[in-house]
Amino acid sequence: MSDPVIEARELAKTYRLGDVEVRALNGVSLIVQHGEFIAVMGSSGSGKSTLMNVLGCLDRPTSGRYLFEGIDVAELAEPELARIRSERIGFVFQSFNLLARTSAVENVALPLFYAGSDSHSERMTRAREALCAVGLGEREHNTPSQLSGGQQQRVAIARALISRPSVLLADEPTGNLDSRTSHEIMETLCSLNREQGVTIVVVTHEADIAAYTNRIITMRDGRVQSDQPNRSVSSEPAGGRTTAVPFRGGLSQAAGSGAAPSRFWAFAAMTLSAAAQALGRNKLRSALTMLGVLIGVAALIAMVAVGRGANEAVRKQIESLGTDLLVVLPGATTTSGVRAGSGSAGNEKTA
Ligand SMILES: Nc1ncnc2c1ncn2[C@@H]1O[C@H](COP(=O)(O)OP(=O)(O)OP(=O)(O)O)[C@@H](O)[C@H]1O
Ligand SMILES: [Mg+2]
Repeated sequence: MSDPVIEARELAKTYRLGDVEVRALNGVSLIVQHGEFIAVMGSSGSGKSTLMNVLGCLDRPTSGRYLFEGIDVAELAEPELARIRSERIGFVFQSFNLLARTSAVENVALPLFYAGSDSHSERMTRAREALCAVGLGEREHNTPSQLSGGQQQRVAIARALISRPSVLLADEPTGNLDSRTSHEIMETLCSLNREQGVTIVVVTHEADIAAYTNRIITMRDGRVQSDQPNRSVSSEPAGGRTTAVPFRGGLSQAAGSGAAPSRFWAFAAMTLSAAAQALGRNKLRSALTMLGVLIGVAALIAMVAVGRGANEAVRKQIESLGTDLLVVLPGATTTSGVRAGSGSAGNEKTA
Protein backbone atom coordinates (compact mmCIF):
# COMPACT_ATOMS: atom_id res chain seq x y z
CA MET A 1 0.00 0.00 0.00
CA SER A 2 1.31 3.50 -0.83
CA ASP A 3 2.33 6.01 1.85
CA PRO A 4 -0.40 8.25 3.19
CA VAL A 5 -0.34 11.77 1.75
CA ILE A 6 -0.05 13.23 5.23
CA GLU A 7 1.30 11.61 8.36
CA ALA A 8 1.64 13.91 11.36
CA ARG A 9 2.83 12.75 14.79
CA GLU A 10 2.46 14.87 17.91
CA LEU A 11 2.73 18.18 16.07
CA ALA A 12 3.15 21.20 18.31
CA LYS A 13 3.37 24.83 17.34
CA THR A 14 4.09 27.51 19.91
CA TYR A 15 4.06 31.22 19.16
CA ARG A 16 5.96 33.53 21.49
CA LEU A 17 4.61 37.04 21.91
CA GLY A 18 7.02 38.68 24.34
CA ASP A 19 6.64 36.75 27.58
CA VAL A 20 3.42 35.12 26.47
CA GLU A 21 3.44 31.66 24.88
CA VAL A 22 0.54 30.65 22.64
CA ARG A 23 0.30 26.92 22.07
CA ALA A 24 -1.59 26.94 18.76
CA LEU A 25 -1.00 23.20 18.23
CA ASN A 26 -0.55 20.94 21.19
CA GLY A 27 0.20 17.39 20.03
CA VAL A 28 -1.81 16.82 16.84
CA SER A 29 -1.53 13.37 15.26
CA LEU A 30 -3.19 12.80 11.92
CA ILE A 31 -3.05 10.47 8.94
CA VAL A 32 -4.63 11.41 5.60
CA GLN A 33 -4.82 8.76 2.90
CA HIS A 34 -4.95 9.46 -0.85
CA GLY A 35 -8.44 10.32 -2.02
CA GLU A 36 -9.87 11.31 1.36
CA PHE A 37 -12.21 14.28 1.72
CA ILE A 38 -11.84 15.70 5.22
CA ALA A 39 -13.39 18.58 7.13
CA VAL A 40 -11.55 20.27 9.99
CA MET A 41 -13.88 22.00 12.40
CA GLY A 42 -13.52 23.74 15.75
CA SER A 43 -14.08 27.03 17.44
CA SER A 44 -12.16 30.18 16.56
CA GLY A 45 -8.57 29.98 17.81
CA SER A 46 -8.59 26.18 18.13
CA GLY A 47 -5.61 25.90 15.74
CA LYS A 48 -7.23 24.95 12.42
CA SER A 49 -5.36 27.48 10.26
CA THR A 50 -2.11 26.79 12.10
CA LEU A 51 -2.54 23.08 11.33
CA MET A 52 -3.24 23.84 7.67
CA ASN A 53 -0.14 26.04 7.47
CA VAL A 54 2.02 23.25 8.90
CA LEU A 55 0.42 20.59 6.67
CA GLY A 56 0.88 22.89 3.67
CA CYS A 57 4.59 23.37 4.51
CA LEU A 58 3.97 27.10 4.88
CA ASP A 59 5.14 26.88 8.48
CA ARG A 60 7.34 24.50 10.44
CA PRO A 61 6.12 22.85 13.64
CA THR A 62 7.93 23.63 16.90
CA SER A 63 8.10 19.89 17.61
CA GLY A 64 6.67 16.65 16.29
CA ARG A 65 7.14 14.77 13.06
CA TYR A 66 5.52 15.51 9.72
CA LEU A 67 5.82 13.20 6.72
CA PHE A 68 4.42 14.45 3.43
CA GLU A 69 4.08 11.58 0.95
CA GLY A 70 6.57 9.69 3.11
CA ILE A 71 9.15 12.50 3.14
CA ASP A 72 10.16 14.03 6.46
CA VAL A 73 9.76 17.71 5.62
CA ALA A 74 11.72 18.81 8.71
CA GLU A 75 14.89 17.72 6.90
CA LEU A 76 14.18 19.75 3.78
CA ALA A 77 15.74 23.12 2.95
CA GLU A 78 13.50 26.04 2.01
CA PRO A 79 13.86 25.65 -1.82
CA GLU A 80 12.79 22.01 -1.57
CA LEU A 81 9.84 22.97 0.62
CA ALA A 82 8.89 25.64 -1.91
CA ARG A 83 8.96 23.01 -4.62
CA ILE A 84 6.67 20.72 -2.63
CA ARG A 85 4.31 23.64 -2.06
CA SER A 86 4.20 24.60 -5.71
CA GLU A 87 3.99 21.11 -7.20
CA ARG A 88 2.32 18.88 -4.64
CA ILE A 89 0.00 21.05 -2.59
CA GLY A 90 -2.89 23.19 -3.76
CA PHE A 91 -4.09 26.04 -1.55
CA VAL A 92 -7.48 27.69 -1.48
CA PHE A 93 -8.11 30.55 0.92
CA GLN A 94 -11.14 32.40 2.21
CA SER A 95 -10.23 35.48 0.13
CA PHE A 96 -9.71 34.26 -3.39
CA ASN A 97 -6.33 35.94 -3.94
CA LEU A 98 -6.73 36.33 -7.70
CA LEU A 99 -4.83 38.93 -9.74
CA ALA A 100 -7.34 41.71 -10.42
CA ARG A 101 -6.57 42.76 -13.99
CA THR A 102 -5.81 39.26 -15.17
CA SER A 103 -8.23 36.96 -16.97
CA ALA A 104 -9.47 33.78 -15.32
CA VAL A 105 -7.43 31.55 -17.60
CA GLU A 106 -4.23 33.52 -16.94
CA ASN A 107 -4.85 33.40 -13.20
CA VAL A 108 -5.21 29.63 -13.40
CA ALA A 109 -2.08 29.27 -15.55
CA LEU A 110 0.01 31.34 -13.14
CA PRO A 111 1.48 28.44 -11.08
CA LEU A 112 2.69 26.75 -14.28
CA PHE A 113 4.21 30.03 -15.45
CA TYR A 114 6.18 30.43 -12.22
CA ALA A 115 7.18 26.77 -12.28
CA GLY A 116 8.73 27.54 -15.68
CA SER A 117 7.19 24.36 -17.12
CA ASP A 118 5.48 23.93 -20.50
CA SER A 119 5.17 26.39 -23.36
CA HIS A 120 2.66 29.25 -23.31
CA SER A 121 0.13 27.31 -25.43
CA GLU A 122 0.47 24.17 -23.27
CA ARG A 123 -0.06 26.26 -20.13
CA MET A 124 -3.18 27.83 -21.59
CA THR A 125 -4.55 24.44 -22.68
CA ARG A 126 -4.09 23.02 -19.19
CA ALA A 127 -5.60 26.12 -17.61
CA ARG A 128 -8.67 25.84 -19.88
CA GLU A 129 -9.05 22.17 -18.92
CA ALA A 130 -8.86 23.09 -15.21
CA LEU A 131 -11.46 25.84 -15.69
CA CYS A 132 -13.75 23.39 -17.51
CA ALA A 133 -13.34 20.93 -14.60
CA VAL A 134 -14.82 23.55 -12.25
CA GLY A 135 -17.56 24.51 -14.72
CA LEU A 136 -16.10 27.82 -15.90
CA GLY A 137 -15.01 26.91 -19.41
CA GLU A 138 -17.11 29.74 -20.86
CA ARG A 139 -15.69 32.46 -18.61
CA GLU A 140 -11.98 32.10 -19.28
CA HIS A 141 -11.54 35.68 -20.56
CA ASN A 142 -13.35 37.34 -17.67
CA THR A 143 -11.36 39.19 -15.03
CA PRO A 144 -12.19 38.56 -11.32
CA SER A 145 -14.32 41.73 -11.15
CA GLN A 146 -16.54 40.28 -13.89
CA LEU A 147 -17.12 37.07 -11.90
CA SER A 148 -19.28 36.36 -8.86
CA GLY A 149 -17.69 35.39 -5.53
CA GLY A 150 -18.47 31.72 -6.10
CA GLN A 151 -17.01 31.84 -9.62
CA GLN A 152 -13.88 33.57 -8.32
CA GLN A 153 -13.47 30.83 -5.73
CA ARG A 154 -13.86 28.20 -8.45
CA VAL A 155 -11.11 29.96 -10.44
CA ALA A 156 -8.97 29.78 -7.28
CA ILE A 157 -9.74 26.05 -7.00
CA ALA A 158 -8.80 25.53 -10.65
CA ARG A 159 -5.55 27.42 -10.00
CA ALA A 160 -4.83 25.25 -6.97
CA LEU A 161 -5.36 22.09 -9.03
CA ILE A 162 -3.46 23.11 -12.16
CA SER A 163 -0.19 21.53 -10.98
CA ARG A 164 -2.05 18.27 -10.24
CA PRO A 165 -1.19 18.37 -6.54
CA SER A 166 -1.65 15.35 -4.34
CA VAL A 167 -3.64 17.31 -1.77
CA LEU A 168 -5.85 20.38 -1.81
CA LEU A 169 -5.89 22.40 1.43
CA ALA A 170 -8.79 24.82 1.70
CA ASP A 171 -8.99 27.16 4.70
CA GLU A 172 -12.60 28.30 4.99
CA PRO A 173 -13.14 28.41 1.20
CA THR A 174 -16.80 29.28 1.70
CA GLY A 175 -16.21 31.86 4.45
CA ASN A 176 -16.88 34.83 2.14
CA LEU A 177 -19.77 33.27 0.25
CA ASP A 178 -23.50 33.12 0.74
CA SER A 179 -25.15 29.83 1.58
CA ARG A 180 -26.21 28.87 -1.96
CA THR A 181 -22.80 29.66 -3.46
CA SER A 182 -21.10 27.82 -0.59
CA HIS A 183 -23.01 24.69 -1.52
CA GLU A 184 -22.03 25.11 -5.18
CA ILE A 185 -18.36 25.29 -4.15
CA MET A 186 -18.71 22.21 -1.98
CA GLU A 187 -20.38 20.33 -4.84
CA THR A 188 -17.44 21.32 -7.06
CA LEU A 189 -14.98 20.02 -4.43
CA CYS A 190 -17.07 16.88 -3.99
CA SER A 191 -17.02 16.04 -7.68
CA LEU A 192 -13.26 16.75 -7.88
CA ASN A 193 -12.78 14.30 -5.01
CA ARG A 194 -15.07 11.61 -6.39
CA GLU A 195 -14.29 11.89 -10.08
CA GLN A 196 -10.62 12.87 -10.07
CA GLY A 197 -9.58 11.42 -6.72
CA VAL A 198 -8.22 14.72 -5.42
CA THR A 199 -7.40 14.50 -1.69
CA ILE A 200 -9.06 17.45 0.02
CA VAL A 201 -8.81 18.89 3.53
CA VAL A 202 -11.23 21.73 4.11
CA VAL A 203 -11.53 23.96 7.19
CA THR A 204 -15.02 25.11 7.98
CA HIS A 205 -17.20 26.40 10.81
CA GLU A 206 -20.41 25.20 9.16
CA ALA A 207 -21.83 21.75 9.88
CA ASP A 208 -23.70 21.67 6.57
CA ILE A 209 -20.43 22.31 4.71
CA ALA A 210 -18.66 19.58 6.68
CA ALA A 211 -21.56 17.25 5.82
CA TYR A 212 -20.19 16.98 2.25
CA THR A 213 -16.98 15.31 3.45
CA ASN A 214 -16.18 11.72 4.40
CA ARG A 215 -14.42 12.43 7.67
CA ILE A 216 -14.78 15.19 10.23
CA ILE A 217 -11.92 16.22 12.52
CA THR A 218 -12.85 18.54 15.37
CA MET A 219 -10.14 20.59 17.05
CA ARG A 220 -10.10 22.20 20.44
CA ASP A 221 -7.28 24.13 22.13
CA GLY A 222 -4.70 22.93 19.63
CA ARG A 223 -5.65 19.26 19.93
CA VAL A 224 -7.77 16.86 17.93
CA GLN A 225 -10.89 16.47 20.01
CA SER A 226 -12.61 14.00 17.72
CA ASP A 227 -11.86 12.32 14.40
CA GLN A 228 -14.80 10.45 12.95
CA PRO A 229 -16.08 9.23 9.62
CA ASN A 230 -19.05 11.14 8.35
CA ARG A 231 -21.77 8.51 8.26
CA SER A 232 -24.14 10.61 6.20
CA VAL A 233 -22.02 10.13 3.05
CA SER A 234 -20.09 7.18 1.66
CA SER A 235 -16.97 6.75 3.77
CA GLU A 236 -15.05 5.04 1.00
CA PRO A 237 -12.16 7.27 -0.02
CA ALA A 238 -11.64 7.89 -3.71
CA GLY A 239 -8.04 6.77 -3.33
CA GLY A 240 -8.20 4.10 -6.01
CA ARG A 241 -8.96 6.70 -8.65
CA THR A 242 -6.38 9.22 -7.60
CA THR A 243 -4.43 10.91 -10.38
CA ALA A 244 -1.71 12.20 -8.08
CA VAL A 245 1.80 11.29 -9.11
CA PRO A 246 4.21 10.27 -6.33
CA PHE A 247 6.73 12.96 -5.57
CA ARG A 248 9.66 10.88 -4.46
CA GLY A 249 12.90 11.11 -6.37
CA GLY A 250 12.32 14.62 -7.60
CA LEU A 251 14.03 16.40 -4.76
CA SER A 252 17.59 15.27 -5.19
CA GLN A 253 17.30 15.99 -8.90
CA ALA A 254 16.12 19.50 -8.15
CA ALA A 255 19.00 20.07 -5.77
CA GLY A 256 21.55 18.93 -8.37
CA SER A 257 23.95 21.65 -9.47
CA GLY A 258 24.07 20.55 -13.13
CA ALA A 259 20.74 22.14 -13.87
CA ALA A 260 21.66 25.41 -12.14
CA PRO A 261 22.64 27.54 -15.20
CA SER A 262 19.59 26.51 -17.21
CA ARG A 263 17.39 27.13 -14.17
CA PHE A 264 18.96 30.58 -13.86
CA TRP A 265 18.18 31.45 -17.50
CA ALA A 266 14.70 29.97 -17.21
CA PHE A 267 14.15 32.14 -14.14
CA ALA A 268 15.54 35.23 -15.91
CA ALA A 269 13.30 34.61 -18.94
CA MET A 270 10.31 34.05 -16.67
CA THR A 271 11.02 37.27 -14.76
CA LEU A 272 11.36 39.35 -17.96
CA SER A 273 8.25 37.80 -19.41
CA ALA A 274 6.33 38.47 -16.15
CA ALA A 275 7.51 42.09 -16.21
CA ALA A 276 6.44 42.51 -19.84
CA GLN A 277 3.06 40.95 -19.09
CA ALA A 278 2.58 43.20 -16.06
CA LEU A 279 3.40 46.28 -18.18
CA GLY A 280 1.01 45.12 -20.88
CA ARG A 281 -1.77 44.49 -18.36
CA ASN A 282 -1.50 47.96 -16.80
CA LYS A 283 -0.98 50.07 -19.90
CA LEU A 284 -2.23 53.39 -18.52
CA ARG A 285 -0.30 52.97 -15.27
CA SER A 286 2.86 52.01 -17.17
CA ALA A 287 2.45 55.00 -19.53
CA LEU A 288 1.95 57.41 -16.62
CA THR A 289 4.93 55.95 -14.76
CA MET A 290 7.10 56.36 -17.88
CA LEU A 291 5.83 59.93 -18.29
CA GLY A 292 6.73 60.64 -14.66
CA VAL A 293 10.20 59.19 -15.14
CA LEU A 294 10.67 61.22 -18.35
CA ILE A 295 9.56 64.44 -16.66
CA GLY A 296 11.91 63.74 -13.74
CA VAL A 297 14.88 63.06 -16.03
CA ALA A 298 14.06 66.13 -18.18
CA ALA A 299 13.83 68.34 -15.08
CA LEU A 300 17.18 67.02 -13.86
CA ILE A 301 18.81 67.69 -17.24
CA ALA A 302 17.31 71.21 -17.34
CA MET A 303 18.59 71.99 -13.83
CA VAL A 304 22.08 70.78 -14.69
CA ALA A 305 21.99 72.84 -17.93
CA VAL A 306 20.85 76.01 -16.08
CA GLY A 307 23.63 75.51 -13.51
CA ARG A 308 26.22 75.06 -16.23
CA GLY A 309 24.87 78.09 -18.14
CA ALA A 310 25.11 80.30 -15.04
CA ASN A 311 28.63 79.04 -14.41
CA GLU A 312 29.61 79.80 -17.96
CA ALA A 313 28.10 83.32 -17.78
CA VAL A 314 30.05 84.15 -14.60
CA ARG A 315 33.23 82.74 -16.13
CA LYS A 316 32.76 84.86 -19.26
CA GLN A 317 32.07 87.95 -17.20
CA ILE A 318 35.28 87.41 -15.23
CA GLU A 319 37.21 86.78 -18.45
CA SER A 320 35.82 90.00 -19.97
CA LEU A 321 37.44 91.96 -17.15
CA GLY A 322 40.79 91.27 -18.84
CA THR A 323 44.39 91.94 -17.62
CA ASP A 324 44.46 95.66 -18.64
CA LEU A 325 42.01 96.75 -16.00
CA LEU A 326 43.11 99.43 -13.55
CA VAL A 327 41.42 99.76 -10.20
CA VAL A 328 41.78 103.26 -8.71
CA LEU A 329 41.27 103.57 -5.00
CA PRO A 330 41.52 106.64 -2.75
CA GLY A 331 44.37 106.29 -0.31
CA ALA A 332 44.27 106.24 3.50
CA THR A 333 45.27 109.19 5.71
CA THR A 334 47.08 109.11 9.04
CA THR A 335 46.23 111.80 11.59
CA SER A 336 48.13 111.99 14.95
CA GLY A 337 49.37 108.49 14.43
CA VAL A 338 45.90 107.16 13.83
CA ARG A 339 45.36 105.64 10.42
CA ALA A 340 42.00 106.29 8.86
CA GLY A 341 40.45 103.66 6.59
CA SER A 342 40.92 103.22 2.85
CA GLY A 343 39.27 106.01 0.85
CA SER A 344 39.87 108.68 3.54
CA ALA A 345 42.46 110.49 1.43
CA GLY A 346 41.28 113.28 -0.77
CA ASN A 347 43.77 112.46 -3.62
CA GLU A 348 43.55 109.28 -5.65
CA LYS A 349 46.55 107.04 -6.14
CA THR A 350 47.17 104.44 -8.75
CA ALA A 351 47.24 100.88 -7.33
N1 LIG B 1 1.45 34.32 13.87
C1 LIG B 1 0.92 34.16 15.06
N2 LIG B 1 1.50 34.73 16.14
C2 LIG B 1 1.00 34.57 17.37
N3 LIG B 1 -0.11 33.81 17.64
C3 LIG B 1 -0.72 33.22 16.62
C4 LIG B 1 -0.25 33.36 15.28
N4 LIG B 1 -1.06 32.67 14.46
C5 LIG B 1 -1.99 32.12 15.23
N5 LIG B 1 -1.80 32.46 16.54
C6 LIG B 1 -2.59 32.03 17.67
O1 LIG B 1 -2.72 30.63 17.60
C7 LIG B 1 -4.02 30.25 17.98
C8 LIG B 1 -4.65 29.44 16.86
O2 LIG B 1 -4.85 30.29 15.76
P1 LIG B 1 -5.48 29.78 14.39
O3 LIG B 1 -5.40 30.90 13.42
O4 LIG B 1 -4.84 28.52 14.01
O5 LIG B 1 -7.01 29.51 14.83
P2 LIG B 1 -8.23 29.05 13.95
O6 LIG B 1 -8.75 27.80 14.52
O7 LIG B 1 -7.86 29.02 12.51
O8 LIG B 1 -9.26 30.23 14.20
P3 LIG B 1 -10.35 30.85 13.22
O9 LIG B 1 -11.47 29.87 13.16
O10 LIG B 1 -10.74 32.12 13.86
O11 LIG B 1 -9.70 31.08 11.88
C9 LIG B 1 -4.79 31.51 18.30
O12 LIG B 1 -4.79 31.68 19.70
C10 LIG B 1 -3.99 32.58 17.62
O13 LIG B 1 -4.08 33.79 18.34
MG1 LIG C 1 -8.41 30.15 10.78
